[in-house]
Amino acid sequence: MIFHTGPTKPALMLLCCMGTWLAICSLPFGAPTAKIGTILEFLKGDLEELYKNYSKCQAAGMETDESLQLPCFTPGCEASANISTIKAYLEEVERLNENNISTAHIRKRLDDIRCSDPPKPSVSGPEDFYERKIFTLTVFKRLSDCMAKLGAKNNTSG
Ligand SMILES: *[C@@H]1O[C@H](CO)[C@@H](O)[C@H](O)[C@H]1NC(C)=O
Ligand SMILES: *[C@@H]1O[C@H](CO)[C@@H](O)[C@H](O)[C@H]1NC(C)=O
Ligand SMILES: *[C@@H]1O[C@H](CO)[C@@H](O)[C@H](O)[C@H]1NC(C)=O
Ligand SMILES: *[C@@H]1O[C@H](CO)[C@@H](O)[C@H](O)[C@H]1NC(C)=O
Repeated sequence: MIFHTGPTKPALMLLCCMGTWLAICSLPFGAPTAKIGTILEFLKGDLEELYKNYSKCQAAGMETDESLQLPCFTPGCEASANISTIKAYLEEVERLNENNISTAHIRKRLDDIRCSDPPKPSVSGPEDFYERKIFTLTVFKRLSDCMAKLGAKNNTSG
């Protein structure tokens, strides 16, 4: 099979071909790394802005919830599951904020950097007015930190 064409094939190919061939492989071979880098830059800016606005306005003076941890990811096909989880959190944030906050642009960008579309886990945040704000603030903070970490990783490895 194509997965075993020889020891010299890059590891990426192996990783990439363990799932659905077409869906999974369209990304690493179709989107150049530079393009993914650009999308990550935009994501970083968008999430920082959301976090800053939210922490200054709606959640002024509130602290993030240390017990709430979100997955981060290393760009690549293996990230798809974590990206689905992140999207589920963003959708829950929108629901809890009665659509006063839009994360559609962020979810769209996340779609652009993943290879497959694994089922989203179900995420439910607190309905309480105050708790809901802490949840939203924490989700934005975690994702903003995640993007910053990706940038840092990129710089030290390159
Ligand atoms: C953040 O707040 C500024 C100023 O109020 C506004 O122009 C901008 O659209 C807001 N950004 C987001 C992502 O809500
Ligand atoms: C997905 O998130 C988990 C933590 O929730 C992390 O351990 C794992 O490395 C992440 N996977 C990728 C591919 O980044
Ligand atoms: C959404 O915005 C409306 C109008 O500004 C406001 O009355 C409502 O309280 C907001 N909902 C949330 C959850 O912030
Ligand atoms: C990673 O490095 C590449 C090349 O220097 C750059 O184009 C890209 O924007 C960087 N990505 C991030 C997330 O910093």
